[in-house]
Amino acid sequence: MADVTDIVFRDFVLRHSRPDVVYTEFVACKALRSPKIQEPFMRLLGYSERERPIVAQVFGSEPADLFACAQQIRAWGFDGLDINMGCPDRRVEKQGAGASLMRDPQRAQALIQAAKAGLEGLPLTVKTRLGYHTIETASWIGTVLAAQPDVLVIHGRTRQELSEVPAHWDEIARAASMARDAGVLCVGNGDIQSREQGEEYAQRFGVDGIMIGRGVLGNPWVFAARTKRSEPEKLAALAQLITQFSGFWKAAKNAGLLKKHFKVYVDGFPGSTTLRRELMATRNSTEALETLSRYFDRNGWIFPAMVYEQIVLSTGCSRLPDSLTERV
Ligand SMILES: Cc1cc2nc3c(=O)[nH]c(=O)nc-3n(C[C@H](O)[C@H](O)[C@H](O)COP(=O)(O)O)c2cc1C
Repeated sequence: MADVTDIVFRDFVLRHSRPDVVYTEFVACKALRSPKIQEPFMRLLGYSERERPIVAQVFGSEPADLFACAQQIRAWGFDGLDINMGCPDRRVEKQGAGASLMRDPQRAQALIQAAKAGLEGLPLTVKTRLGYHTIETASWIGTVLAAQPDVLVIHGRTRQELSEVPAHWDEIARAASMARDAGVLCVGNGDIQSREQGEEYAQRFGVDGIMIGRGVLGNPWVFAARTKRSEPEKLAALAQLITQFSGFWKAAKNAGLLKKHFKVYVDGFPGSTTLRRELMATRNSTEALETLSRYFDRNGWIFPAMVYEQIVLSTGCSRLPDSLTERV
């Protein structure tokens, strides 16, 4: 998820529960090709060895870009490449990438073929939706499958629906059946909130795997069996996330990005409205941690921040170029 699942967030989640595969944030293929702007984008593709298997997600619209990008991703040691064919963001669509590829099936197929050639056997996954304006499972998913990616990840909504209606799991089941016939693995995505729900849906709708997006927000335990956590456990996790984020990125990333996490961790318990308001008013990570620490004191809980200094130090990031690692 863009602006969420960076190396720090993934490391943080993996300390609480483990999915079988993780995906990076997405990156423009073109940016990876141009030496001038390559470096800032590399921040999006840093990963540590303990995250494996890890798939890099990219978007693009030119087969030549996809080919070059696939070679680069292979050289950087990723375990797979994913092409985004579902993002509804206008800036992505304007480039002929993301969801707009559903309206240009020939190009979509050419991109898959170019990526496969560049990957030289490394797995290719394609993440897409059910259609553009309307559900077009038979034609659109048929188009993707004909180009034979290794994995189809299907978000069960159309581009038009954004995330505003419940995911159509019956259509995901149709896509999964088509994928099975085509010898392609199928991963279902949409509204999964727990491992148990994911396992049940996988069985019920016949998918080979489940992808969880928003379910990990406020719940880094989502990939484990028991996911109900107490208020101090959740707030301690938030303190850990803030500490890891600021310790790793320092000034390289705006701490304002943490505010979306304040909203989801500080919710649904007595006093959460006041604490959330206080956190939203903080100007940096230190103030946020101080606010949490005071709250722990008031409740007689032990604040865990010191413990996490060790965690910050041990966050690995082996695949960023040295020049960049020094800067962040
Ligand atoms: C903040 C945010 C950022 C996202 N960024 C991406 C992205 O970069 N690539 C992508 O394939 N999907 C992205 N998505 C979509 C999710 O991966 C997922 O398909 C969608 O949220 C439905 O699944 P869920 O109900 O498990 O969240 C994003 C979603 C959110 C909420």
